[in-house]
Amino acid sequence: MKKKAGVRKNSRPGAPPAKFWQTRIGDASDELAEKFVESLSVDYRLAGHDIRGSMAHAAMLRRVGLISDRDLRRIQRGLAGILKDIRSGRFIFDQRREDIHMAVEAALIERIGEPGRKLHTARSRNDQVALDLRLWCLEAIAALNKKLLAMQSGLVRLARRDGAVLMPAYTHLQRAQPIAFGHELLAYVEMLQRDRGRLADCARRTAVSPLGSGAAAGTTLPIDRRLTAKLLAFPAISENSLDAVSDRDFMVELAFDLSMIAMHLSRWAEQWIIYASTEFDFIRLADRHTTGSSMMPQKRNPDMLELIRGKTGGVYGQLVALLTMLKGQPLAYNRDMQEDKRWLFGAMDTVGETLSIAAAIVAGAAIKPDSIGSRIDEGFLDATALAEYLVKRGVPFRSAHQIVGKLVAHCENSGLKALADLELSVLRKTCPRIERDVYRTLGARCVAENYASRGAGGPRQLRARLAAWEKRLNSIHH
Ligand code: ARG
Repeated sequence: MKKKAGVRKNSRPGAPPAKFWQTRIGDASDELAEKFVESLSVDYRLAGHDIRGSMAHAAMLRRVGLISDRDLRRIQRGLAGILKDIRSGRFIFDQRREDIHMAVEAALIERIGEPGRKLHTARSRNDQVALDLRLWCLEAIAALNKKLLAMQSGLVRLARRDGAVLMPAYTHLQRAQPIAFGHELLAYVEMLQRDRGRLADCARRTAVSPLGSGAAAGTTLPIDRRLTAKLLAFPAISENSLDAVSDRDFMVELAFDLSMIAMHLSRWAEQWIIYASTEFDFIRLADRHTTGSSMMPQKRNPDMLELIRGKTGGVYGQLVALLTMLKGQPLAYNRDMQEDKRWLFGAMDTVGETLSIAAAIVAGAAIKPDSIGSRIDEGFLDATALAEYLVKRGVPFRSAHQIVGKLVAHCENSGLKALADLELSVLRKTCPRIERDVYRTLGARCVAENYASRGAGGPRQLRARLAAWEKRLNSIHH
């Protein structure tokens, strides 16, 4: 056994070996293997969380008498110095340290010597990384929630400004019934609200402290897990050490929540790509949110919206990667888990950037009322309302449906664009219960104003929902 061989790279006396575990293993300094196994290039993003966790752990070690006051002060000062250096970009991340946990601990020992060697008492990288990830997720969830709020507010603002414009609602991308444009905008606000609810729910299950679970089975040392949890603002602690070090459910949940957000944004992007086409011409995107063609000088392509749609598949992929990474693992920790960060960080970055650009696109867009309005009475959007008019006069709905179907066919055969263009005599010949007041129920404007059900798409409902959303979102902002 060439025990000493692996320490070659750190020849300074008293300096920690490149790997803390290598005294048992021997020479572990193989460049190819090191590069393959390291996670520092990904988990350097956990530095701040790792140090927060170590601060709490050290404070607890002091409280239960495992380290001295003096040790604690040196550890605290050392960690604070490392954090400062990391923040200012002065810290050198040495890939031989494998991961952020060892990089920080080694730097601490290098800086403060002996007391630094006590920090890892009653702790393993396994509960350490589980803790760091939970802290990171909680922070990411808070940031994401803010971005979702900003997107919601943007949609509400646009709905307030231009939302009363009437447009067709679609089913099967065929004209269906008239609605206020704002009603459609607020549909996305509802989706994002559910996303925020899911994140809040995920945060509850994430805010459980695994610290003190050790490598797999806990520790014989008299630690105080409630104290570290309290110092880190976790309302709960885990109850099973095996589960605590190998549970990544919170990451899978978050990845799912991110997938759902990406899916919602993708649907919205698709909607607006269609609306920005010449065929629809419902909205105009700001110039900065379009790109030109290298060949066709007239083009204004909605590339940002297309990328929002296009990136969604990658986010789903990262969710599936996480689920699949977990599915074959025996309890408890296995190195497979190191791959968790890559996927979750990636999904979070993508969705965060997507939300930022989406909010900017909404803020820069304008609805085109003239273009929408010039065709609003095409497509017999009032057909259902006419059938309901007949229902109010005692005609069974199925019969009313047939009658209106006949009237629509009559219009089409005689070249009339709208039901309102039919003479009263023609209407009455098809159904004698129709009176002159029928014309007050025809046309997109009348229909939209006559919606009576809660959650309907008329301007009256829009005003109420807008007020409710504004109140709700404002109360969160302030
Ligand atoms: N870098 C590792 C990870 O991200 C930290 C935990 C390593 N633990 C271990 N026993 N090898 O999962």
